[in-house]
Amino acid sequence: MTSPRVFALEDLFKFNHIVLDPLVEVYSLPFLLPKILEYPELVLAVDAPGGRLIGFILGRRIVDAKESIGDGKDQSWSNGHISALAVAHDYRKLGLATRLLTTLRDMMDRKGDWYVDLFVRGKNEKAISLYESLGYVKYRWMPQFYANDHGYDMRLPLARDVERKSLEGILINKVYSFGNMLYYLLMLYLLGIKDILIGDRWLE
Ligand SMILES: CC(C)(COP(=O)(O)OP(=O)(O)OC[C@H]1O[C@@H](n2cnc3c(N)ncnc32)[C@H](O)[C@@H]1OP(=O)(O)O)[C@@H](O)C(=O)NCCC(=O)NCCS
Repeated sequence: MTSPRVFALEDLFKFNHIVLDPLVEVYSLPFLLPKILEYPELVLAVDAPGGRLIGFILGRRIVDAKESIGDGKDQSWSNGHISALAVAHDYRKLGLATRLLTTLRDMMDRKGDWYVDLFVRGKNEKAISLYESLGYVKYRWMPQFYANDHGYDMRLPLARDVERKSLEGILINKVYSFGNMLYYLLMLYLLGIKDILIGDRWLE
């Protein structure tokens, strides 16, 4: 199987065929460049035997982040984050994304990060099941995180997080997410009723 290599800036001009997929987030150069240059060793690519770029993953680190978890005390963390992942359509289901994700996970493990997280569309069931098969859990539901979809913040605790502290807020988040979902459904229902009433000629 092809081994991941470090992503080169020229690859930005070679990945259009990979990102032309409704489930791939297409980012602008001003968004991508600083992220690539911040931790270039965490941005990986895979090539087909002929040298064609067929997949990439954009990883980065958040160092000395402060987060209030569990007992409410602020804790300092460093964690990994995956900003983008995509594999060309013809090369899917061959284990390439798994390879990219596990390579990055091992690198972040070696750097002593507590966890890796990423955001994924709620409708992207394939990606969610892939992440879950690698141990990621849905940490937070994020209403309207994407322009036309909800999202999940998924987390994978790393070796340093022996007690899985990075998942401690998960119950509170689940209750919060459930509340958010109810609120969202209620608003949809009320807006639906309003549309019916306003659209009703008898009430004009
Ligand atoms: C999601 C995505 C990155 C997965 O890439 P991939 O290289 O196909 O992923 P893998 O091959 O590692 O694993 C995918 C599935 O194939 C299965 N698989 C892996 N190797 C396999 C093989 N040799 N034969 C059959 N199935 C295989 C895996 O078990 C996994 O199954 P699952 O769907 O039940 O989890 C790819 O579909 C993609 O680019 N999608 C569009 C962009 C996207 O959604 N990115 C994620 C944004 S958060």
